[in-house]
Amino acid sequence: MKTSASTSASTSWSSRIGFILSAAGSAIGLGAIWKFPYTAGTNGGAVFFMLFLLFTVLIGLPVLLAEFYIGRKSGKNAVDAFRTLAPGSQWPWVGRMGVAACFVLLSFYSVVGGWVLNYVVHAFSGAVHPGADFGALFGATIASPANALAYQAIFMLLTVAVVQGGIAEGIEKANRYLMPALFILFLVLAVRSLTLPGAMKGVEFLLKPDWRYLNPQTMLIALGQAFFALSIGVSAMITYAAYLGRDQDVFRAGNSVMWLNLLISLLAGLVIFPAVFALGFEPGQGPGLIFVVLPAVFMQIPFGRLLFGVFMVLVSFATLTSAFAMLETVIASSIRDNQGKRRSHTWLIGTAIFIVGIPSALSFGAWKELTFFGKTVFDLWDYLITAWIMPVGALCIALFTGWCQQKTDVLQHMREGSSAASALPALWLAALRYLAPLAILLVFANTLGWI
Ligand code: TRP
Repeated sequence: MKTSASTSASTSWSSRIGFILSAAGSAIGLGAIWKFPYTAGTNGGAVFFMLFLLFTVLIGLPVLLAEFYIGRKSGKNAVDAFRTLAPGSQWPWVGRMGVAACFVLLSFYSVVGGWVLNYVVHAFSGAVHPGADFGALFGATIASPANALAYQAIFMLLTVAVVQGGIAEGIEKANRYLMPALFILFLVLAVRSLTLPGAMKGVEFLLKPDWRYLNPQTMLIALGQAFFALSIGVSAMITYAAYLGRDQDVFRAGNSVMWLNLLISLLAGLVIFPAVFALGFEPGQGPGLIFVVLPAVFMQIPFGRLLFGVFMVLVSFATLTSAFAMLETVIASSIRDNQGKRRSHTWLIGTAIFIVGIPSALSFGAWKELTFFGKTVFDLWDYLITAWIMPVGALCIALFTGWCQQKTDVLQHMREGSSAASALPALWLAALRYLAPLAILLVFANTLGWI
């Protein structure tokens, strides 16, 4: 595959697998590896997992495909895509909201990206060894302002460096090998974790529902997580699909992205929770969960210290490829096809994102006490974007595609390049017109106490 054309001068993906890999690269990241386990841990496990699964398949996939439609049909960035498909309307605001959300998203995503980079250093500097106190190590990692900011800055620098020059061929190619490698390491870990004495309690936690958790808050969080993990609702997939050729099968691409993402989430759960119970950790401990539990699991396998380092490098790649998509969404709408502006805009906007992210980076140390509605700056942004903006964006995208575009045009466009059975596009459109909007509205109404 050549290059993710989103950032280079060429204007289409050179192969189907190139698009799938880039879309999957955007989707697979901290959402599946870090956020899923800790959110499942704080929301009761199995019930959360089931809702997440349900929302991903029934609502997430249709909306993902709607973003592919908007992007490919228009061939434009997040804002201009709506302008092109609905001239003179207010719909471009959905794109603007998505762009703003990607901006804020990256401002706090880069904080966690920084932690991951810091753990690469921890792994190879010997800080992670059998007998180390991983809870204390994580605490120290996130609490020091200088440390957190320095690694956040490095993470942003790497992201800007790649996006400003166009996602290089090498990086896309590297992804082709690194993602399967991540997968294999996860599998090895899952086997180790599942064979620890007492592991079954963790499997139960993830798979055996405790119905007390079936409440409005869990639903809202699970809906948000489904959208977060698929990178939908913020027009990022519109941006990537704009470079997608008419000869490519969008249904297959969407399907692959969704299943790969679900599989990584499931694997992450099957690594973390058995180990949590077997090794005596706390499932509901929050954002530190994987950083505390994973090193402990690695210390239980041969060459664990080395493999932990390798693993963290792979997670860094997965995280960076998601960050590229966030930044690309903002940049594409800012340069509007004028590639000459790419370099300067990327540096400027990247710097602005870093600055906006500073309070989030300090949320775990110096500014821990600074809370709004009981949430730190980091948690507040995360809650706002993940639980509210993403579902609202997804709702708008579903309504736009389902109701404000000519049905026959939409179906005809989606069939281009697709070998999907003929009933599939119609089924998809029905999900988009009725199921997705209704479900999202119900979850909102439920949360607000209206029903
Ligand atoms: N799906 C990404 C992850 O799991 C996070 C994400 C959410 C994202 N929205 C996005 C990535 C938009 C790129 C663009 O890590």
